[in-house]
Amino acid sequence: MAVPLIDLKSEYLELREEVLEAIDGALQTMQLFLGPNVQALESEWADFCGVEHAVGVGDGTDALHLSLRAMGVGPGDEVITVAWTFFASIEAIIHAGAAPKLVDIEPDYFCMDPAALEAAITERTRAVIPVHVYGHPAEMDAIGAICEPRGIRILEDAAQAHGAAYKGRTVGAIGDAGIFSFYMSKNLAGYGEGGMVTTDDEQIATGVRMLRDHGQRRRGTFECIGYNSRLDELQAAIVRIKLRRLAENNERRRQHAARYNQLLQHEDIIVPKTAVGCEHAFHLYTLRSRRRDEIAAALKAAEIGFATHYTNPPHRSAACEAYGLDRAHLPVTEALADEVISLPMYPGLSEAQIEQVAETVLSALG
Ligand SMILES: Cc1ncc(COP(=O)(O)O)c(C=O)c1O
Repeated sequence: MAVPLIDLKSEYLELREEVLEAIDGALQTMQLFLGPNVQALESEWADFCGVEHAVGVGDGTDALHLSLRAMGVGPGDEVITVAWTFFASIEAIIHAGAAPKLVDIEPDYFCMDPAALEAAITERTRAVIPVHVYGHPAEMDAIGAICEPRGIRILEDAAQAHGAAYKGRTVGAIGDAGIFSFYMSKNLAGYGEGGMVTTDDEQIATGVRMLRDHGQRRRGTFECIGYNSRLDELQAAIVRIKLRRLAENNERRRQHAARYNQLLQHEDIIVPKTAVGCEHAFHLYTLRSRRRDEIAAALKAAEIGFATHYTNPPHRSAACEAYGLDRAHLPVTEALADEVISLPMYPGLSEAQIEQVAETVLSALG
């Protein structure tokens, strides 16, 4: 029996009536420009995260870019992030006109290594983007202790971590601002593109609100050069439906991960860990193994979906050569690129499917 990496179609069929009703409701009102669903989602997401402001934008990449600009990051500034992320985290720094600088990750949870961050800081460092990769929170206390006394802004990239928590606080509410993606495969998503910025900082919130709408604070008054990057009303209507199930779905993801971890005890496999005091959102369930290619071959033969996030981390990409990122010294990142493999993970995964995936993985290792 084939098992997909993620099953969006089954989820849609479960929600179909609610989704169609919400879309019809939005179309009946025709208030499609930052309409009632965008406003309601902003307020609901701010409450969920425990922040003052949530601002809906076109996608997660714009959420990063616009947040950096609203923080005042620009040419001449350096922004430090990790290479163990999706390309967008680096792209956004370049779009803001700043220079990206990459530091290594720690080997247990694959998030920013605070010691590497501290060593990389220069007088030009203006902001830091820790990435809560796969849904696991970065070490925010240590990162805060390094950045705050130096006046360096912290922008959490929580694109993969909706609902994850660090020492009782929801990610996106810990740094100066946080960003989320509502791309369709994310833990909280629409059926297209969308993004959100969360912050307690009035200035950042106002800045992002203006930048997402051509630099307007009020209709017709263009105060700065902005962008056309508003959250779409129909996507917001869909995300609101899924938000009501986010906590329960994240809990299911954690249960699936625990079951995988139980079944996948093998000397050639390192299963994902969760740091004490953290709640993982398990956007991805990613193993580490030197025998990754054998596992991948077995999964492929059994028609089981898998992915390798990230076989080609951004600093190895041609686009980064111009920024000198290809020369970054990132031993943990480099080792992981050859060893990671993500297995099927979504709330509706069944016990039988998990067992089948685990058996297939183990059969590859003998
Ligand atoms: C870590 C990370 N940051 C940023 C983004 C960008 O989000 P979007 O695709 O909504 O632009 C993604 C999307 O996959 C991501 O995984």
